[in-house]
Amino acid sequence: MGRTVNQGFERIPYSWHEQIINLLAERVVIVDRDGMILYINKGYCDFIGTTVDQALGRDVQDVIANSRMHIVAKTGEKELAALQPINGSEMIANRFPLFENGEVVGALGTVMFRSPEEWRMYKSKIQHLVEELKYYQTKVQRDMKSKYSFHDLIGNSSTFLAAKKLAERISDSQSSVLLIGESGTGKELFAQAIHDNSVRCSSPFVAINCASIPEHLLESELYGYEDGAFTGAKKGGKMGQFELANEGTLFLDEIGDMPLPMQSKLLRVLQEKEVQRIGGHKSIPVDVRVIAATHRDLEKMVEDGEFRQDLFYRLNVIKIDIPPLRKRKEDIPLISISLLKKLEKRFFRKGIELSDEVMEKLMEHKWPGNIRELENVLERCINVIDGNTIQLDHLPLYLHEQQRERKMQTQSISNDNDAVSPTSIPLPLSVKPLKETVALAEKQAIQHALALTKGNKLEAAKLLEIGKTSFYEKCKLYEIK
Ligand SMILES: Nc1ncnc2c1ncn2[C@@H]1O[C@H](COP(=O)(O)OP(=O)(O)O)[C@@H](O)[C@H]1O
Ligand SMILES: [Mg+2]
Repeated sequence: MGRTVNQGFERIPYSWHEQIINLLAERVVIVDRDGMILYINKGYCDFIGTTVDQALGRDVQDVIANSRMHIVAKTGEKELAALQPINGSEMIANRFPLFENGEVVGALGTVMFRSPEEWRMYKSKIQHLVEELKYYQTKVQRDMKSKYSFHDLIGNSSTFLAAKKLAERISDSQSSVLLIGESGTGKELFAQAIHDNSVRCSSPFVAINCASIPEHLLESELYGYEDGAFTGAKKGGKMGQFELANEGTLFLDEIGDMPLPMQSKLLRVLQEKEVQRIGGHKSIPVDVRVIAATHRDLEKMVEDGEFRQDLFYRLNVIKIDIPPLRKRKEDIPLISISLLKKLEKRFFRKGIELSDEVMEKLMEHKWPGNIRELENVLERCINVIDGNTIQLDHLPLYLHEQQRERKMQTQSISNDNDAVSPTSIPLPLSVKPLKETVALAEKQAIQHALALTKGNKLEAAKLLEIGKTSFYEKCKLYEIK
């Protein structure tokens, strides 16, 4: 029998060890179970500004800032790719326990850079990625936070206070909430306040408007998709709003405009508490509280077969009716003043007041567009006043005309929703660049159409004889919600 190749082969000479360690990983430290340094290489010492002689035999915590080697030497649990702040930067460290006869006897630590070049590359390339990531994380967190609390919900009328109290009381419940109210009554504000007042407040508040998203995109918006789910799908896939809202609140605005097939899918997700991305097979568990809102009569829609009854019951666990402004007229002065304060800040103005006649007029108007309409009227006034007091002639013409019409019609129609004349576009008192005036007219035409259709955007677009997409683009441009 011949000798095998390995026989007599000398193991790595001991004298090579030091060199090899230095080549494998530039920075190495070994501690015993008490965290005393048994070995540290020169690379590590140079990096932390000490010498091997000074470091050996000392407690690792006194030599390396923020070291966790003594902990790993106790717990026996390795820590891989751990970020460790050193010298004002962050380095990546690996820490491995060392065993003898199954018992932890010490630990080996390495720093994952083998040369100063790598370190510099990390600093220039990775560090700025880490910073970028931090920036986006805080931005996303900020964007997904609710911006309003119950404190911002103004009104003292009994109908309004009842709605507000109910909303406050059920904030912490896990059940779905259905907010019913005309456009501009503050449904979104309520949803944000409920989230803000709940245990979910430090998790995301994600709002999605079922009416403004094109039907074919709604599904991927809500549930996300996997890589290659359809042509044009982003590489790597995309998270849906349900996943984004995990542990937080998902606000489904204009739920009455959700197409029937999507209603079935939504119901399934609400029942099973898990989503499947389009083109994906995995079920992803989601813990989301749903608050839905609509200005439409869902019960009637259920009767007419336009809204699924089972979904209606699922959403309607807690129903909150938000009264229209005309049913709580006593709140108009308080709300006007609070809106003026908000507008003053935006327009860098101070001390703006309403004349008594104006207040009277505001009290008379029926406000089909509710608080949003009031806000728009006041904003318009601030744009055209010269001094500090808002007078009658600063109000948009349609507020005057309505009253004239009412006076002329001795037999008043007992319809709550006064028609707003779309032809009554007021002009600013001072001459402004034509572009600005046209934009203002366009914005007001849209607002009038919305007031007429009680916030129904599709109908408003039809009235204006423009397409849905162009309508939504203009709403976005003029910040009309
Ligand atoms: N109770 C309220 N107090 C003060 N401002 C309100 C109140 N309700 C609504 N608003 C304001 O009116 C506007 C419309 O509110 P929003 O919640 O978007 O209405 P909706 O979703 O019902 O159409 C927002 O600018 C909001 O800040
Ligand atoms: Mg809304």
